[in-house]
Amino acid sequence: KRVFKHVKFKEKIQYNSKYFISSSIPSKELIANDSIINKKFVPFQKNINSRRTEAKRSILVQVQSAQSYKELYSYCSSFGNVTQMFHYTTGIEPMHFILVEFKNESDVVSTLSSSTFVEGNSTTPVNSQFLWFRSTSKKITKSKHKNAALVIEDGITPMTNDRIRETLQKCNNVTEQILTLYNNTKMTDLECRLRFLTARQMELSVYGMFPHARVLPFGSSVNGFGKMGCDLDVVLTLKDNKEDSSSRLVFHCKDSGVDRSSNLRNLEVFGDLLQLFLPGCARVRKILQARVPIIKYYHQFTDVECDLSMCNVSGVHMSDFLYIMGSIDSRVRPLVFAIRKWAQEVGLTNSSPGRWITNFSLTLLVLAFLQGPLHSPPILPSLNTLVKSAESKDSFITDEGVNCSFLRDIEKLHFSSVNIENLEVLLCEFFEYYSQFDFKSKSVCLNEGVPLTKLDHSALYIINPLERGLNVSKNVSLEELEKFKFAARNAAWILQSEESTNTSNWGLLSIFDKPNKKMAFSVSRNKNERLMQVKQLFEEEDNTDTGHSEVDNRRT
Ligand code: CTP
Ligand code: MG
Repeated sequence: KRVFKHVKFKEKIQYNSKYFISSSIPSKELIANDSIINKKFVPFQKNINSRRTEAKRSILVQVQSAQSYKELYSYCSSFGNVTQMFHYTTGIEPMHFILVEFKNESDVVSTLSSSTFVEGNSTTPVNSQFLWFRSTSKKITKSKHKNAALVIEDGITPMTNDRIRETLQKCNNVTEQILTLYNNTKMTDLECRLRFLTARQMELSVYGMFPHARVLPFGSSVNGFGKMGCDLDVVLTLKDNKEDSSSRLVFHCKDSGVDRSSNLRNLEVFGDLLQLFLPGCARVRKILQARVPIIKYYHQFTDVECDLSMCNVSGVHMSDFLYIMGSIDSRVRPLVFAIRKWAQEVGLTNSSPGRWITNFSLTLLVLAFLQGPLHSPPILPSLNTLVKSAESKDSFITDEGVNCSFLRDIEKLHFSSVNIENLEVLLCEFFEYYSQFDFKSKSVCLNEGVPLTKLDHSALYIINPLERGLNVSKNVSLEELEKFKFAARNAAWILQSEESTNTSNWGLLSIFDKPNKKMAFSVSRNKNERLMQVKQLFEEEDNTDTGHSEVDNRRT
């Protein structure tokens, strides 16, 4: 047996957390053309289901180098029909992996049943689709390699920031820059496969005890707004509500409770399971005080940061909603990418949770802007339009009572936009719209597609589209909101001035620099306001990120 199951060593695995970024030239896949334009719409659920089956048909094998693919192909072909192989490396001392996709799920079953565990006192055999390929002294016949096809080599290495800048400098206009940024930084097919395989590991490992367990990815990994290296949000559900009640023989089950404390206790148990037994899962942290408690962990083999939550599936429906909005018009996703990148570059967003605006809130701001009402005609419909068009199969109410019913198939949507503005104009309009938005008294509402009167004193109020009583951006402080408004005003000003065309860092690149004093004085009319802005801006930058605890503010 040459394929070995990965097992977790009982000693704590030390792993260097630094994200490995190589300066190598990106593979062809990374510079592939925009795939969403003119593509037939595949409903979210159908997409998820096909990715889940793809993961069931795949294994991940650690190998010596990319060149091992021929031997691995030959070896795996004796158990089933190998359709595709993908290579990538991860870690500072690179570990090489090959994702092997088989034609059928049964091929994986036979490969796994022919694989073995290493013998040793400190390891516990655990079922998973993560394996390593042992070298052999036997001679390998070359003829068997002829069908081996490696789809991609070094497949998850993102472009460096310098390379992105160089590529953007060579574009002809801002619209082209926005599309180029999107095409070069969006999540790749291989990354998506690895995320579903990561989710599959948890599902597979608890299957014996929980036959209805499902680990569902949601968030940017599946909503169409994910960039390379984004985190993986997953929700673990143990029940399948479509139980057939006709049988007279019924399983005995324990009452595990439905309240918050039982949910917390269960989540902790799964956190321990990950930490103690599941190969590849490292740096497990329990964040239990948030409104939706999560277990954070890093997967060493797939190079994915994961957030595991339990039961609350409204995030999955939210992802469906975002996926739909991104699919309605091909300008939506590139625009969101440009604005997220701008926010990251000017220091508005931060990878750790805190009082700043999140990528999710930013995405909602862009979608709300595209619904109108400043620029007419709108590019996106309101959520209410999707709710009104919903059919009976679109009706979902979560166990927590959240109504998530809205039209899922946009081919049936009676909405078409006559707006033909290019991305450059839309970007500029976005900045203008929010630099003048009345945040003091208005909330952003995607349900109606127009701002509504604010219900409380939160600095930034974005009504949670699925749970209207909640504010998605409750965490955002007044200072951070002021910073956002100021940076937006600054970006609008730069894009409309000569400053954005005269340097090598022109167009989109010109707004990636942090706002400076000169610009601050140029954009504000009122002297006191100008001084306040500059003071605030620089004070904030000096104080970045000190002393805030890792409190997750999701789904507030
Ligand atoms: N979510 C939500 N309500 C919130 C926060 C989050 O419903 N107040 C859901 C959304 O579906 C969101 C997902 O949880 O997409 C994951 O949240 P997060 O990881 O913060 O955002 P992402 O959209 O995944 O963006 P990122 O790439 O920054 O991870
Ligand atoms: Mg996420």
